[in-house]
Amino acid sequence: MFCVGTGVGAIAVSWKAVLGLSVDGETARPGTEARAPQAENKTQATPIKIESRIIAIKYIHEHKPVLSFMLNLRTMTYQGLLHQYGHLLDLPPHIRTVSLLEGNTPLIKADSLSRQLGGGFELFIKYEGLNPTGSFKDRGMTAAVSEALGRNATTVICASTGNTAASAAAYAARAGMKSIVLIPQGKVAAGKLAGAIAYGAQVIQIDGSFDDALTMVIQITNKHPICLVNSINPYRIEGQKTASFEICDVLGSAPDWLCLPVGNAGNITSYWAGFKQYNEVKSTSLPQVLGVQAAGAAPLVLGHPVDNPETVATAIRIGKPARGEQALQAAEESNGRIIAVTDEQILDMQKMLAKLEGIWVEPASATGLAGLAHEIENGKLKVKGKRVVAICTGHGMKDPDIITKDMQKPLIVPPRLEALEEVILS
Ligand code: F0G
Repeated sequence: MFCVGTGVGAIAVSWKAVLGLSVDGETARPGTEARAPQAENKTQATPIKIESRIIAIKYIHEHKPVLSFMLNLRTMTYQGLLHQYGHLLDLPPHIRTVSLLEGNTPLIKADSLSRQLGGGFELFIKYEGLNPTGSFKDRGMTAAVSEALGRNATTVICASTGNTAASAAAYAARAGMKSIVLIPQGKVAAGKLAGAIAYGAQVIQIDGSFDDALTMVIQITNKHPICLVNSINPYRIEGQKTASFEICDVLGSAPDWLCLPVGNAGNITSYWAGFKQYNEVKSTSLPQVLGVQAAGAAPLVLGHPVDNPETVATAIRIGKPARGEQALQAAEESNGRIIAVTDEQILDMQKMLAKLEGIWVEPASATGLAGLAHEIENGKLKVKGKRVVAICTGHGMKDPDIITKDMQKPLIVPPRLEALEEVILS
């Protein structure tokens, strides 16, 4: 968010900084930040990106007053998904925006990983772990909680394998609402549980699976005035469509293939709806969709619910996906498919992505890429000359234990240079 220090002096000095002038008259270089010097009233102005100078120069030429420039700059600054794409979402008029400036996540070109998988195609990672609570859930949660707040709901509830819980708790906190989250006992990664607690949710463990917890939250919201914010809530789907819009806006069109993990199947449903809508409005074409489940929790591949789903990718440890039908429809309509990969393939891909590209994601988030690798390896997916986008749904820091539990303890050396040299040079 663009901010200036308070007081006329601060604005004047910030204005100078916008032009790239420091107090001693030196011009700041492009790509650096112009840091506003101390204002007369000793108020420190916030650093301002030097690119803003271009806008500033335009305004000087047009003789517009500084205040008008400042106000316009504010509206040019990113203000979250509902501000950015709300006009394309099917949301009721009563919504009151609750935002943490979610979305606008980077689409990172992954050339090393593409080469590792055989090369000859463009691979992009949509890094959804960079959302405010560390997962893609924030896209849908801004919409769902904004709708709930708009009709004066006071409490939200969800069942969750962890990420929905953290996201619901954060947006409820921001809205001044209470949040209740039901999680499968002992099966939620540390970073997610910690998030839900930190944001002030009432966390309840169910001695059962995610599917049991989902059944319970549906039952309780049918009986009591509590707002359900799982992805069966249609506004979650609306919010999550924005990721497809962003991909098309960055690439200029939809990719040839989209691969992503599938758990409760809300996300694949949203992506497909988003791509279809954008194609209708902007002729951005459609991707083929590769949905990927974990082998121990693959009801959509097996064709029947899984009573005791089990996988290291706890985020997608789901046996009865609420939007399973729509996921199958997305795969079919797009001329894609839903496949399963083993836990070993998932963990191998998680490590490969971190080591080759510097992108650390939680295990479930590597599942889409693991599926892509599997299909390429088995000659089932011809990617030569194609453009592929893989959705990495959650940050690696959500589940640190999966990395640290088997790792060798880092060496301990005495605090002497020779000791360090011996270790790193020998
Ligand atoms: N990746 C991550 C990191 C997730 O947390 C989830 C779902 C998925 C993929 C699958 O998305 O359910 O829309 O098919 N997590 C839910 C939760 C179930 O409770 O956080 P989906």
